[in-house]
Amino acid sequence: MTDFLDIHKTSKTDLRAILTQAADMKEARKGLPKGTPDAGEPLKNQMVALIFEKPSTRTRVSFDVGVRQMGGQTMVLSGSDMQLGHGETIADTARVLSRYVDLIMIRTFEEQTLLEMAEYATVPVINGLTDRTHPCQIMADILTFEEHRGPIAGKKVVWSGDGNNVFASFAHAAGQFGFDLTFTGPEPLDPEPALDGLYNIERDPQKAVQGADLVVTDTWVSMHDPQSARERRHNQLRGYQVNDELMANAKSDSLFMHCLPAHRDDEATSAVMDGPHSVIFDEAENRLHAQKAIMRHCLGL
Ligand code: CP
Repeated sequence: MTDFLDIHKTSKTDLRAILTQAADMKEARKGLPKGTPDAGEPLKNQMVALIFEKPSTRTRVSFDVGVRQMGGQTMVLSGSDMQLGHGETIADTARVLSRYVDLIMIRTFEEQTLLEMAEYATVPVINGLTDRTHPCQIMADILTFEEHRGPIAGKKVVWSGDGNNVFASFAHAAGQFGFDLTFTGPEPLDPEPALDGLYNIERDPQKAVQGADLVVTDTWVSMHDPQSARERRHNQLRGYQVNDELMANAKSDSLFMHCLPAHRDDEATSAVMDGPHSVIFDEAENRLHAQKAIMRHCLGL
């Protein structure tokens, strides 16, 4: 039994094994209708709780579908509908859920909530996003990059925009998978200091993307940012929009990623999102395949 809490908390060997299994399972499903169970139904008789304290489309649907394809069952729980949202402690919630389900995935605000859930649960816990990190997304992103361009080790990845929770998981992945990560964004939105040493900074986005194999961005106002900050952030980040001019300075075969949901023509133009470099919908699909392998890893199945 193993938690999947963050990319830097999982060994390099296990991360690589997860990606290999994800690719194998994806390949084995080729040509099958989406609802068809995977051979052997590895999660048969397993019950998975999916807890959401924040909105979600991709994480919710891809985990739910993934469990069902593997023969297991899910219950999707909204934090506000649970006693968790009305004063019951995380520790008590974790102990109780562990009596009913075999695996817990939680999307929450504070990282501390995730860590307490993992500490007190006696079943594996998966991080479905916190204000600090989003490891399942980045496992899907690496699967996507390697499908298109081969091993990511030694490649140049450039993040343009806000140094947010998705960037943090890219930084952890740079350390584990051995790629070069450059952050380009305004100083007030720099990544948290705990990530220092895992990436380089280049304030000029046009210079930053030179030689890039992959250009990534994300929404300028994350779910945990106050909406009152919207105008200020747009002013700070406008110069870091990923558009055709920026992509023209990257390698000619560079890829473009965005974890979605996007605000089209803010952080990235529709021309880039729908253009020849973009693999955004492959990323979204690969959430399904990567997370299926993560769940099998956690359950030892
Ligand atoms: N990328 C991502 O996590 O999407 P959702 O917020 O829709 O789950």
